[in-house]
Amino acid sequence: MRAVVNTIKGPVVTGVDDPRPRGDETLVAVRAFSLNRGELALLKTRTDDWRPGQDIAGVVVEPAADGTGPAAGTRVVALVEAAGWAELAAVPVERTAILPDTVSVEQAAALPLAGLTALRTLRLGGDLLGRRVLVTGANGGVGRLQVQLAALAGAEVTAVARPERQKELLAFGARAVVVAPEAAEGLYDLVADWAGGPSLATGIAKIRPGGTVVVGSGNAEKTPLNLYDFFGHEGARLVGYLSYAYPEPPGPDLSTLVGLVASGRLDPSVGLSLPWEHLDEALSALAERRLSGKAVLSIG
Ligand SMILES: NC(=O)c1ccc[n+]([C@@H]2O[C@H](COP(=O)([O-])OP(=O)(O)OC[C@H]3O[C@@H](n4cnc5c(N)ncnc54)[C@H](OP(=O)(O)O)[C@@H]3O)[C@@H](O)[C@H]2O)c1
Repeated sequence: MRAVVNTIKGPVVTGVDDPRPRGDETLVAVRAFSLNRGELALLKTRTDDWRPGQDIAGVVVEPAADGTGPAAGTRVVALVEAAGWAELAAVPVERTAILPDTVSVEQAAALPLAGLTALRTLRLGGDLLGRRVLVTGANGGVGRLQVQLAALAGAEVTAVARPERQKELLAFGARAVVVAPEAAEGLYDLVADWAGGPSLATGIAKIRPGGTVVVGSGNAEKTPLNLYDFFGHEGARLVGYLSYAYPEPPGPDLSTLVGLVASGRLDPSVGLSLPWEHLDEALSALAERRLSGKAVLSIG
């Protein structure tokens, strides 16, 4: 099969061995995959034939040998650990969800890492009905989904994004859109930071006493912090979220996300859709921040 392999010269599409699924894995013909910002950083460092790719959607070609999971021919979406940017992927059944007919593989491929991260970090805020939620990096892959999910959960959402994104984010259910967290009014029950650096420090200044700040961004910029930052925000907690450490498998939450897309309540926010031969173009758009939402590449 053909797959993306990362070399010292960057990612290339080349021939590799077909994957050999374990008993609890289905073999999926990948039809679409999406990019994540974290993968950009890894592509710079893992140049020793690393096989990138976490977000995939496609068709089951071989069901799991242990008899669990979807039958051959079923369309699925999955979050894999790596090696998903390829014509075939071996996927643990518990990491897949079946796609309803009305959800395209391109839409589905936008969901796994960003959607699960958005959904699961909102849970850190508990019952969100009537609660105030601040989302930084709101125009990104995670942010656009999180604004919608928080609004669906009944929260009053403030999105932090460039001014030209205001209209779309209001349409997604945000109550207010501000250009920087400093401009957000009042205190929040939950702050989810997908921008990092100074945004995280300001996020702490915006949390209500006892509220939760999600430290989620992979931005390498450090944020200085000490006890006095918590005056007026007593008892606030900072929670570092690392998706790989989430205690439950992705399948059920992925089903929730595709169900919301199927019913028209969640826009998967595909900002760029290209054949995988144009991978470099999509990676540049992500690196240069020319994207709103997700970049999706289709195969075949
Ligand atoms: N902790 C986890 O498990 C986990 C899981 C998924 C993602 N992440 C991290 O969460 C962050 C958001 O992910 P994503 O997929 O939503 O990324 P994304 O699609 O690239 O979106 C990032 C958003 O943050 C904004 N932003 C503000 N300052 C930025 C900066 N210095 N560099 C880059 N973007 C900046 C961007 O605004 P513009 O629209 O103006 O470009 C964009 O809206 C990334 O750092 C990613 O690595 C963490």
